[in-house]
Amino acid sequence: PRTAAVIPAAGRGVRLGPGAPKALRTLNGTPMLVHAVRAMAASRAVSLVVVVAPPDGAPDVRRLLDAHSLPERTDYLVVPGGETRQESVRLGLDALPEGFDIVLVHDAARPLVPVETVDAVIEAVRDGAPAVVPALPLADTVKEVEPASGSAPEPVVATPERARLRAVQTPQGFAYETLAEAHRTVTGEVTDDASMVERLGRKVVVVPGHEEAFKVTRPLDLVLAEAVLARRRA
Ligand code: C5P
Repeated sequence: PRTAAVIPAAGRGVRLGPGAPKALRTLNGTPMLVHAVRAMAASRAVSLVVVVAPPDGAPDVRRLLDAHSLPERTDYLVVPGGETRQESVRLGLDALPEGFDIVLVHDAARPLVPVETVDAVIEAVRDGAPAVVPALPLADTVKEVEPASGSAPEPVVATPERARLRAVQTPQGFAYETLAEAHRTVTGEVTDDASMVERLGRKVVVVPGHEEAFKVTRPLDLVLAEAVLARRRA
């Protein structure tokens, strides 16, 4: 089966502080997006990577990819993204040529995911799961709250049993038809692609994630990411 990876990279990354769009920030001198593209192309199963650029940034992102060394056995497409992550992923799917039966969706903001995790997700889809997410158990206890306006303390509503919770990462893997149907039919706010498949009533399964697949969201995450890269080179 042929496998493509879609990388939504159109976010502004406001939580990271002021500056360039998040995917273009550098880690040890290389843009986060380039790390993420290399992480997908590192899997021998991935023959196409579709990068979804900021709406007005596709030419710049194309130039950026051309300026960095990437595995030659993989093809790279760049398309402009949308207002929301969901819309960006849909635009990436729309750009896929015929013939890809497995699709990965991977956040540019998870630049350091190891190839073993990528391959484990692909393998679970090949084994028949329509949707696969890598995930880890939680260190923190999680509370559901009633969001309060302003600075008022938020009342706790519930404490879900921690042992049953997982923190979900990317790449998430899908049978192409399942993800395409989800993006055609599911509306409303979602924060990942697998939840759209859940809304279709289709089965989503979890495989072990990896601590290095964390999402670079806040300034401290940049420090951690550069430390991980330094350790890899040591
Ligand atoms: O904002 P969040 O951290 O959830 O974004 C996850 C991924 O979705 C990032 O890689 C970001 O660039 C991407 N994104 C996008 N288009 C948007 C918003 C976010 O491609 N409009």
